[in-house]
Amino acid sequence: MAEFSFAQYQESADYLSARLGGFRPEVLLILGSGLGYLADQVEDPLAVPYEDIPHFARSTAPGHAGRFVFGLLRGRRVAVMQGRFHYYEGYNFPQVTYPVRVLRLLGAETMIVTNAAGCVNTAWPAGTLMVMDDHIKLALDSPLRGENLPQFGPRFPDSGQVYTPALRALAGQVAAKQGIPVEHGVYLFMPGPQYETPAEIRAARLLGADAVGMSTVPEAVVASHAGMGVLGISLLTNMAAGILDTPLSEEEVLTAAEAGREKFSALVLGCLERME
Ligand code: HPA
Repeated sequence: MAEFSFAQYQESADYLSARLGGFRPEVLLILGSGLGYLADQVEDPLAVPYEDIPHFARSTAPGHAGRFVFGLLRGRRVAVMQGRFHYYEGYNFPQVTYPVRVLRLLGAETMIVTNAAGCVNTAWPAGTLMVMDDHIKLALDSPLRGENLPQFGPRFPDSGQVYTPALRALAGQVAAKQGIPVEHGVYLFMPGPQYETPAEIRAARLLGADAVGMSTVPEAVVASHAGMGVLGISLLTNMAAGILDTPLSEEEVLTAAEAGREKFSALVLGCLERME
């Protein structure tokens, strides 16, 4: 049995559909730790707390508000998730990825997802913005494990282009135009909540990872399965474990997320504006 039935996803979508009147979001925007402020820029906002929506989990992570903000951002009809669900909070992957399928049913065709991540690539400084070109997910099962729901996508989806090439290229062009330095790289999913050990980070580097984090990959797998375009952007808030002498802390991550705020917003907004 799948964790949720198609009817449950549909029930959540119908609930939101009624609350939204005729508004249909085109883009799902999932904002990472300390990055939720973009939701404040939505025009004609309609906020819907997750707890109002049937079958939704609640968000417990610090720096995450726990609601959708629907409205217009740079002329696009968006659904902004202010706060998301993480595996480390105790949710399973079907719960973590539930909102993605609901938004797909509401008509969203693209997902832009942001995160704070650790920097594994020693050629880059902390504070680097990274467009996710690909990911590595070795840990745990897949969010698609269990009965396949063919209304969303195939049993064995291709994973060759989880992160849409045209959107990755667009992010590079927008960044260049705005004079924002960005790198392109590979994100390794780790379940957390403990930060990685230095040995895990050395292993991550050997495996080909440039960044490491505790989110985004489950949502990207599910969005890609459902045929959505996916753009992932990481703010590398800290050098990953063992690269520097200092211990990692959530405070450091949130402070760095705050410091990177302007360029991160400018990049995401520029992509929204220029998307096809
Ligand atoms: N590791 C995992 N997740 C993170 C990190 C990190 O170093 N920084 C921000 N999120």
